Parts: sequence; C-alpha cells; structure tokens
Amino acid sequence: MTHDPDDPVLAATSAVPDGPGEAPAIDATHHTAALLSVTDVRKVYGTGHTEVVAVADATMAVDQGEFVALLGPSGSGKTTLISIIGGLLSPTTGSVQLGDTDVTSLSAKELTRFRAERVGFVFQSANLVPFLTARENLLYVASLIKGGSRKAAQARADQLLEELGLAERGRNLPEQLSGGERQRVAIGRALMNDPDLVLVDEPTAALDTALGRQVVELLRREVKSRGKTGIMVTHDLRMVEYTDRVFEILDGELTHVESPSALSH
Ligand SMILES: Nc1ncnc2c1ncn2[C@@H]1O[C@H](COP(=O)(O)OP(=O)(O)OP(=O)(O)O)[C@@H](O)[C@H]1O
Ligand SMILES: [Mg+2]
Repeated sequence: MTHDPDDPVLAATSAVPDGPGEAPAIDATHHTAALLSVTDVRKVYGTGHTEVVAVADATMAVDQGEFVALLGPSGSGKTTLISIIGGLLSPTTGSVQLGDTDVTSLSAKELTRFRAERVGFVFQSANLVPFLTARENLLYVASLIKGGSRKAAQARADQLLEELGLAERGRNLPEQLSGGERQRVAIGRALMNDPDLVLVDEPTAALDTALGRQVVELLRREVKSRGKTGIMVTHDLRMVEYTDRVFEILDGELTHVESPSALSH
C-alpha cells in the first residue's frame, strides 16, 4: 500500500510512533467485564441560555460479540452519544474505555488513528466520497491503515460488496446509486478495516423492510462472527429483534431495557 506523505489524513494516522500490532499487551490477570465501558458521560452544547444537555450522565457497558440497540425520539441524544463513544466528539465530563484504551484521554492524533483502525461508523447520511466509486470508497478507508495489503483490501471490498448485494454496483459513483444502496456502501466501508467497534446510526431509514432486515442481519452476523461490539441507533422496533439488548435514551437520560422482547410492539 502506498502512502502519500503530503496527505494530511494519512500523515495524521501514520505519525503516531508505534505501529499497529504494537499496542500494549492486554494484561490477562486484569479481567474487565466488558470491552466497551461508558462511565458518567455528559455532553453539554453551548453556554448560558443556549445550553443544551444532549447527554446526561450516561453509563453503559457492552461486551465483545454483543449487538445492542439504542432507541429514542428525535433529539434525545443518540447521535451525540455514539459520536462520543467512537471518539468523534469529546464529552463535557465522563469517560469511554474500549478494551485497554481510554478513548477520552487520547490526543487528536491518537484519536484519528483510533477511529481509522478500531471504529466503523455508519452515519445517518451515507457521506460517501462523491468522486470515488462504491468499491473505491471501501478501498479508501483501507488505505488509511499503515502496512495493509492492497490485494487483501481488494478481496475484502469485493466480499463485502457481494454480501451487501452490491456486486454489480462496485463501479458506480454514489450519485448513480439509490439511497439504500449508498447506505449499504457506507456499511461496507464501516466494516472494511475489521473494527472492534461498529457504530451505526439509523441504518434502515432509507431501506424497505426486506432490505432493512438483510442489512441488520449482516451487521449482526459481523458482530457475532468476528467478535465485535455493535451499537445500532434505530427508530424501528422491527429491527430491535436482531439485537441482544436495548438501551433507551430520553432527553439525554439513558436507561437499559431488559431485552428486545420486553418492548411493546
Ligand atoms: N453541535 C450542536 N450544537 C448544539 N446543539 C446540538 C448540537 N448537536 C446536537 N445538538 C442538540 O443536542 C440534542 C441531541 O441531539 P442528537 O443529534 O444527539 O439527537 P438524536 O437523538 O441523534 O436525534 P435524531 O433522531 O433526530 O437524529 C438535540 O437537542 C440537538 O438539537
Ligand atoms: Mg441522530
């Protein structure tokens, strides 16, 4: 894989001295119960009379191999919370821990690398690079990882496009794809670097029910078979049955609902 030393994104991801695979060894004697721990996370936007408490002291733990849902009405703080968990946004107070990494104490440079290597995001809007084809959008994120094999990335991109029902769409630009297809490319891109954490914001909003189920099933399968930690924001109760546990957020207050079946349909 070639790296352009002048590319600011690549510079930011590769400037961190220790390469992948040189992460601090996990201390086997120190057993942490969950891979992801969110502790007393609070996010306040603005100040004074414009102050909005988007997330109020959220605490949650999600284990490796767990796929959980985050439900809540519009404006309740869902996107804010998963953005903090994925290191895109810093909390006003509180901490996020992923394995041995204290996400909330990482420097800006370290965060760039953390996001590229360990987090897969699917945003509410697909946010594809408009001048790259579907396949190139997947390959681009692989190019952000130091020392990866281009051949392996191509094989992985083709496999993901196939699994997402996009085998015939790989050479299309985003503008030549439907909204649902773009969302599926975004899911492929999120899974491309085999992240530990998969954060998905409303993956099914632009999809019909059959396709929505297919996409959520794929996400679940990825989480289960590759031992990832998955959090899916959704308004759609039908998609909740694919998850292991449900968290609800209301006006920034996070609560844990026992199981998907405990929700009234
Ligand atoms: N950058 C920002 N500056 C100020 N307020 C913000 C900002 N981003 C979000 N908010 C406010 O924080 C609250 C939570 O927003 P958030 O986007 O997390 O909600 P959400 O649950 O994802 O909603 P939706 O389902 O509509 O996507 C809302 O009141 C929103 O207006
Ligand atoms: Mg949102």
